Amino acid sequence: MRVGALAVLLLALAGCSPNDTFTRMGFPNPVTTQGAITLSLWQGSWIAGLLVGAVVWGMIIWAVIFHRKRGDKLPPQVRYNMPIEILYTVIPFVLIAVLFYYTAKDENTIDAIPAHPQVTVNVTGFQWSWAFNYPGYGVNTDGAMWNPRLTDAQNQAAMPLLEIPVGESVEFNLTSPDVIHAFWVPEFLFKRDVIPGHPNHFSITATKTGTFTGHCSELCGLYHSRMLFTLKIVTPAQFQTWISQQKAIQQTASGSTQ
Ligand code: CUA
Repeated sequence: MRVGALAVLLLALAGCSPNDTFTRMGFPNPVTTQGAITLSLWQGSWIAGLLVGAVVWGMIIWAVIFHRKRGDKLPPQVRYNMPIEILYTVIPFVLIAVLFYYTAKDENTIDAIPAHPQVTVNVTGFQWSWAFNYPGYGVNTDGAMWNPRLTDAQNQAAMPLLEIPVGESVEFNLTSPDVIHAFWVPEFLFKRDVIPGHPNHFSITATKTGTFTGHCSELCGLYHSRMLFTLKIVTPAQFQTWISQQKAIQQTASGSTQ
């Protein structure tokens, strides 16, 4: 029966219904190709951990039931069983090697930056907000930090906006003028530090459209928790329209101040 229960659990974990929080073991639903890799590494690690756990629990229960103390006689005392000692050493090493292999392999894929990303965004994280610059289009966006006096909808409109197209590779260049921040979109299943004097980079390809909230996930001072931004993943056509609108707005703004 235990084997049956375990099989059901493993099937559930293997992602038969990928929209279920339980099968994702608490992770958000990823919206990037890279996030999907992170999720399967997370699920695979859980399955490996549960398999090891099942063996250990099974051996403990077996010892408790079949080798409990009977009478006053000590059981035969055995020491230095070489095959067992070697097994103790080799099995954990194999487990760690397998986890290490998959982690390193997936990290390399997630960290890879394409030679020619379709969109580049320069991200500046500062105390306590964000600015986004699209060097390919000469477009900049920024906004205010989250304000407790405003409603959620008003905040979402006032916060810095990061808009990207679905299905296209996007490279982010992260810089900070003051202290260490961290760029985090929970649905990317990914964060990266934004460090003064040390530009950081990463790339994603979005797989779903939608509106999400980005965070700073490195304690950076008094208003760290209010350092939010709005991420909009839209279709490439909507993205081009938005870029044109932003260009027009910025040209009008710069024209009116001259
Ligand atoms: Cu910026 Cu926390």
